[in-house]
Amino acid sequence: MTVTIAQAQAASALEATDARVLLRHALGVDAVYLIAHAGDALKAEQQKQFAALAERRRAGEPVAYITGTREFYGLEFAVTPAVLIPRPETELLVEWALEHIAPAAQPRVLDLGTGSGCIALSLAHERPRAQLCAVDCSEAALDVARSNAQRHRIGNVTFLHSDWFAALGTQRFDCIVSNPPYIAAGDAHLAQGDLRFEPAGALSSGKDGLDAICLIVTAAPQYLQAGGWLVFEHGYDQAARCRARLEAAGFTQVFSHCDLAGIERISGGRLDAIPSKS
Ligand SMILES: C[S@@+](CC[C@H](N)C(=O)[O-])C[C@H]1O[C@@H](n2cnc3c(N)ncnc32)[C@H](O)[C@@H]1O
Repeated sequence: MTVTIAQAQAASALEATDARVLLRHALGVDAVYLIAHAGDALKAEQQKQFAALAERRRAGEPVAYITGTREFYGLEFAVTPAVLIPRPETELLVEWALEHIAPAAQPRVLDLGTGSGCIALSLAHERPRAQLCAVDCSEAALDVARSNAQRHRIGNVTFLHSDWFAALGTQRFDCIVSNPPYIAAGDAHLAQGDLRFEPAGALSSGKDGLDAICLIVTAAPQYLQAGGWLVFEHGYDQAARCRARLEAAGFTQVFSHCDLAGIERISGGRLDAIPSKS
């Protein structure tokens, strides 16, 4: 039976956006082609391929893991189940960091928990004179991040296997950015939607979700230059607690910024002076 592109999309029982992305992937075409050729008949092999992808999606698998890619800050990133799927709200962190990394300077920037490398590589791409260090405790995640650096021919990022700051020695940075795990262990959302398929170590961090953030905020002054900034993403209801932690750790100009939905999504602060060793 002949099935057109439009009919296959409608019959897939998927959300229209998901169906379009999977159809593009199955056919190897762009969005414009799909619209312009909506009435074209699919070949039997294309129908079969799309049906298999649609079945995986109906079983709950995230679209990004099915296609193996996700766009972030204008770049296409390879993603596998070893890494968190980059989220649009994390672009706020990149935007903030870009505003604080002067285009002419050669700042040293640390990305803690790099995953696919989306934050570090976006910053490195936008600021080719910056030196980025991207850390993760997952070797599998670092492999994905390295492949993304190669894919975009980005050479100003070094990748480091480390438990947060552990392997950094005495290095200091002008800016530390992080999207750490921050969901409370046992949160019902972990058993729903895409989160079911993402690595547990990328998602949750302790009873209230703040274990990683507290560790990072407490240790960051040992790894920042005087005048350096720490900024990180956190959960929708964690901003006040993050600001309190930042102030307790000696940061000044402590702030939180909202995402497009009006939710306080990132917080950070400035380290005025390197703390003296007691
Ligand atoms: C929320 S994901 C963020 C990934 C990516 N930066 C992004 O924004 O899409 C958190 C990342 O932190 C890493 N991570 C978790 N615990 C860590 C630790 N102790 N040391 C270093 N990285 C860690 C995870 O492997 C994961 O890649």
